Amino acid sequence: MCGIAACILENDKAAPILLGCVKKLEYRGYDSVGIATLNSSIIVEKDEGKINDFEESLDLSKFQGRIGIGHVRWATHGPPTRENAHPHLDCDGKIAIVHNGIIENYMELKNELKSEGHNFASETDTEVIAHLIEKYKNRGHNLEEAVRRALIRLKGAYAIAVISSDEPDKIIGARKESPLIVAKGERGYFLASDIPAILDHARDVIFLDDNEMVIIDDTGARIKDLEGNIKKKEYKYIEWTPEMAEKGGYDYFMLKEIHEQPQVLRDTLREINTIQRVVDEIGEIKRICFVACGTSYHAAFVGKYLFESILHIPTDVIIASEFQYTANALDKETLTIFITQSGETADTLNALRAVNKKSKTLAIVNVLGSTATREADHVIYTRAGPEIGVAATKTYISQLACIYMLAAAIGRKTEIVKDLRKLPDEMEKILEKEELIKEIARTYKNKSDFLFIGRGFSYPTALEGALKLKEISYIHAEGYASGELKHGPIALIEKGVPVVAIAPPPLPLKTGAKIVKDEEEFRNSHSLTLSNVKEVKARGAEVIGLGAEDDEEFKKNTDKYISFNPSIREEISPLLYIIPLQLLAYHISVMKGEDPDHPRNLAKCVTVV
Ligand code: G6P
Repeated sequence: MCGIAACILENDKAAPILLGCVKKLEYRGYDSVGIATLNSSIIVEKDEGKINDFEESLDLSKFQGRIGIGHVRWATHGPPTRENAHPHLDCDGKIAIVHNGIIENYMELKNELKSEGHNFASETDTEVIAHLIEKYKNRGHNLEEAVRRALIRLKGAYAIAVISSDEPDKIIGARKESPLIVAKGERGYFLASDIPAILDHARDVIFLDDNEMVIIDDTGARIKDLEGNIKKKEYKYIEWTPEMAEKGGYDYFMLKEIHEQPQVLRDTLREINTIQRVVDEIGEIKRICFVACGTSYHAAFVGKYLFESILHIPTDVIIASEFQYTANALDKETLTIFITQSGETADTLNALRAVNKKSKTLAIVNVLGSTATREADHVIYTRAGPEIGVAATKTYISQLACIYMLAAAIGRKTEIVKDLRKLPDEMEKILEKEELIKEIARTYKNKSDFLFIGRGFSYPTALEGALKLKEISYIHAEGYASGELKHGPIALIEKGVPVVAIAPPPLPLKTGAKIVKDEEEFRNSHSLTLSNVKEVKARGAEVIGLGAEDDEEFKKNTDKYISFNPSIREEISPLLYIIPLQLLAYHISVMKGEDPDHPRNLAKCVTVV
């Protein structure tokens, strides 16, 4: 998705620092890039393609001035071309703007502005904002007032940063339904759509709310509403460090983030007391409804198995974009839980808004101050640190940990947390098996289809394993509940088709911690998956098994086997068994020459519906 960075520095030149900030937005997924700086006039450079190529082609010496705006664009209105890349200018090149979001009434505004003689250089919705500001400036208003008047005319979502050569000591920013932060550092002030962009320079941050503007000049940053009233807001200190948003010696962010998971789990587990407090505040819960997209949806899906089997609380799990078509039975005894690492996914936020006080809401979010954290009744932070790889890995683990701790807190079942504490060490052991996983990747990297199968708690793991593979290696992959194989997908099995089968051991018959309702049922889930493995094997499939070290029966029916400590039973397996599948997807992607951090057509945070 699009990303914004802007700066107004005390003494330094803006261009190199701005470019550094823009590079930090690369992870969001983009197809073009641009910057503009302001001295006595505005200099703009922009192009389609990758930031590194853009940087190489730039002559930084021509960018004068200590004020600048920059952007990465993910095309919505108009294809990814140089003309459609941001920044956009008004007719005279005296106003430059970068924008995230979508202006819904842009056609109507464009027609109005064209009939008044404005000339457009692009097909974007953004460019109308530049001309609209120009229109109000031409009527004699200063930049702040012209921006304010323009914003009032816009329908849709925006985060913007604007500069003008008529007022060369100023930057104006504004937000509505698209994030924008103001950051204060030693070298000056920054605006950005997300935190990693500014971490090298500033850690004190204000999160703008909808319909707020910020005017930054040499006297500091003033925040106002769209009526022009001053708003008092406090800076919050961001605990994420710049190193957290660096590769730290790994080839790709994704690999680094996979390896961070044991530590992430340890950090997230420290939230148990906060989670217990949130649960006490929420009060009685008779029904749960999880809402999320993508990987967060798979975490929510694990939540359904957990809450229904352990707490016996009826639990739905709904894809956020489908929520409006199905969620009509909410009430005050329902807790609707929104899971979103970014806290900015448009589909999830729309669903959150659609609840409209009909039920209690809880957001499980990774990004501090993001929109979901401000709109939900209650918030739990996942504490995974910044996740840069587009394909979610460590945030998934931290979301799962929060869901398990939530179940432990609601059901007063401390044994769940005790079980989770065993997992970081087990994760480290699995990460040591990377060579085996690389070998599996080498064997199957040229296959065109993969099936992932699992039952019960392993079904969401199968879905997430398949999603990771298709996202970054572009191999067609499907996750299925193993029992569904015979209802269709088994028709796809022929000689050589790889089937990843996930079958952790069931609970032991005599368990001190009675955390599942029917042990026999879980025993069945394991033995039934083994039957499914035999069915696909008989039809020529190549089976990659994920199961316990001592599960000889399973092992002998597989072609490759990734083994786990047998004490990790089914109900907590999702936190562990996903790790080799993340690594498998990663290594296949790299071996195929793809870039796992920047998968085609995907964005880290999808702020459009
Ligand atoms: C995008 C990302 C996925 C992510 C999903 C939900 O599609 O590419 O990796 O799982 O959004 O994002 P959220 O921030 O709401 O968890």
